[in-house]
Amino acid sequence: ADQPQQTERLGADAPGLARAAELLRAGQLVALPTETVYGLGADARNGAAVAAIYAAKGRPRFNPLIVHLASSDAAEPYVEWTDTARDIARRFWPGPLTLVLPLSEGHGLSSLVTAGLPTVALRVPAHPTARALLAQAGIPVAAPSANPSGRISPTNADHVLAGLDGAIAAVLDDGPCSVGLESTILSLAGAPTLLRPGGLPAQEIEAALGQPLLRPETGGPITAPGQLTSHYAPGAPVRLNAGSARPGELFLGFGTCSGTGPDDLNLSPRGDLAEAAAHLFDHLHRLDRLGKPIAVAPVPATGLGLAINDRLTRAAAPRG
Ligand code: TXA
Ligand code: MG
Repeated sequence: ADQPQQTERLGADAPGLARAAELLRAGQLVALPTETVYGLGADARNGAAVAAIYAAKGRPRFNPLIVHLASSDAAEPYVEWTDTARDIARRFWPGPLTLVLPLSEGHGLSSLVTAGLPTVALRVPAHPTARALLAQAGIPVAAPSANPSGRISPTNADHVLAGLDGAIAAVLDDGPCSVGLESTILSLAGAPTLLRPGGLPAQEIEAALGQPLLRPETGGPITAPGQLTSHYAPGAPVRLNAGSARPGELFLGFGTCSGTGPDDLNLSPRGDLAEAAAHLFDHLHRLDRLGKPIAVAPVPATGLGLAINDRLTRAAAPRG
């Protein structure tokens, strides 16, 4: 489906939600806020609409999409549920967790959503505007992060428009995302496996399951975008675990390890990992616009810091 050249910026009010739901049902692309990042949504049952997501993002076709639902009940028909999956969904949905489960018979989703896999990734977001839109549209909504493939994920509507203006029908603007990192992806299609660290710390899932999660070796077959070498990347080089900026570098600080330049930023001057996660992509977007190399302070690799370090490592990886 051809997308209009004029991207509508919709407010998160009744008329905006009604318009966004109408566009989604008509097979158009609508960027929507979630508590993690903004998603680029389309009707997950409509092959042409899903194909338009891949086209707008320039996304490799082997990389499958997450299907978003308004509630656990709405997620029920699409997959084969186990007791473990039900228990995890009950504990952590709505929220920043995506579950990969075997597709059910007669699921009705476009095979482009799953890239031909026998499993599908499902998420019930906690963001009230996302849930209202999903409920009003009444359809499963496939949504990757609303950024050109391989670039920094969007945590506000301006980020979305910077990458996709003119390529999508609308963005539903409800301000900045509170979590700021993509969802944690957990496969329960076999032994519980962490496919991507994210907004729900893996320890919380391990505590609920009473067992450690498997973690696929980096460099194995691609099962989640965290395993693509370069991802979430600014245009300029990124240097990690830096104590200070070298000449010509911008500095992205954390806690007391802070830069002194006028354009330098700090993820969380008080050293709070949740605050750092919420700021991560916005700060990378802002530094990226200045077009200079970026040096990043060390961030502790505990709790949400594991997902922050995962994203920073991708941002610093050699570009493909
Ligand atoms: O927070 C988020 O997860 C955001 C918001 C919009 O929900 N979405 C997001 O989507 O980050 P995306 O496409 O950037 O990352 C989802 C990843 C896919 O790239 C894919 O690797 C993995 O989820 N995935 C999807 N289906 C899968 C499946 N059946 N098996 C394994 N991994 C899957
Ligand atoms: Mg993404």
